[in-house]
Amino acid sequence: MNRSCADRIALIGFNVYPADAAHELRTPLAVIQAQIEVLLRGREPLSAKTKTGLVSMLEETKSLTDMTRDLLLVARQNGAVPSKSLEAILLAALVVEVVESLSLMIHERDMHVTVEERSDLVVSADREGLRRIFMNVIVNALKYTPAHGQVRIAFQEDGSRVCVSVKDTGQGISKEHLPHVFERFYKADNARQSTGTGLGLSIVKELVESYGGSISIQSQIGRGTAVIMKFKRA
Ligand SMILES: Nc1ncnc2c1ncn2[C@@H]1O[C@H](COP(=O)(O)OP(=O)(O)OP(=O)(O)O)[C@@H](O)[C@H]1O
Ligand SMILES: [Mg+2]
Repeated sequence: MNRSCADRIALIGFNVYPADAAHELRTPLAVIQAQIEVLLRGREPLSAKTKTGLVSMLEETKSLTDMTRDLLLVARQNGAVPSKSLEAILLAALVVEVVESLSLMIHERDMHVTVEERSDLVVSADREGLRRIFMNVIVNALKYTPAHGQVRIAFQEDGSRVCVSVKDTGQGISKEHLPHVFERFYKADNARQSTGTGLGLSIVKELVESYGGSISIQSQIGRGTAVIMKFKRA
C-alpha cells in the first residue's frame, strides 16, 4: 500500500523509533535510485551536463541508502528491532569474501591486502552483521591508507576467544582523536575531506559487543592503524 506523504512525515518526524524512520526512508531512496538508473540507461542522448548531474545524484543516493542501512543496524542493536539469531561462522572464509567484494577498490588503489589462511576458527555471530563489521573496518583501512599501501588481516586464538587484527600502513590517527573514533558521527582530522559519515566504527563496536566480543584500536601517525577485535568461539 502506498502511504501518503503526510503519513510518511508523521512516521518519520513523530515516531521516536530510529528503526521506523530508517526503514521508511529506504523505499523512496530505492525508487529514486532506480529512476536515475533508468534515465542514465535510457535511449535518448543526454547532454554531458545532465549526465554528470545524474551520476552525482546516483552517488549521493547510494550513500544515503548506506546511511539508512547503518541507522537500521544501530536501531537493531539498541533493541528497537528484534535481533537476529547467532550462528557458527567460519571467520577467515567470511573475511576473504568481504575482501573479494572490495577487489575493485583494492585494484584501483593498487593496495596489497592479505588474509591469513585459517580454516579452523569458528565464531558465534550473525552473517550479515559480521560482514558489516569487516566491510567497515577493511574499507577504513583502504580509505585512510595512501595508494600502494598494505592491509594485513591476521587471526589468533585466545582461549575461548578468537582475536582478529586488521592492520594498515596508512596515515594513522593522532592521540587526541583516537579515544573518540568509536563515537557516532566522529571523524578525525584525516577524514575531514572524505565523504564518510563517521558512523562506521560506532556500528562496528555495537555489533561486536552484541556478540559478546570486544574491540580496540591502536595507531601511530604516519605509520598505520591496527583494529583488534575479539569474538567468542562457537
Ligand atoms: N584505518 C584507519 N586509519 C586512519 N584513520 C582511521 C582508520 N579507521 C578510522 N579512522 C578515523 O576514524 C574516524 C571514524 O571512522 P568511521 O569508520 O566511524 O567513520 P568514517 O570512515 O569517517 O565514515 P563512515 O561512516 O563512512 O564509515 C574516521 O573518520 C577516520 O578519521
Ligand atoms: Mg568508516
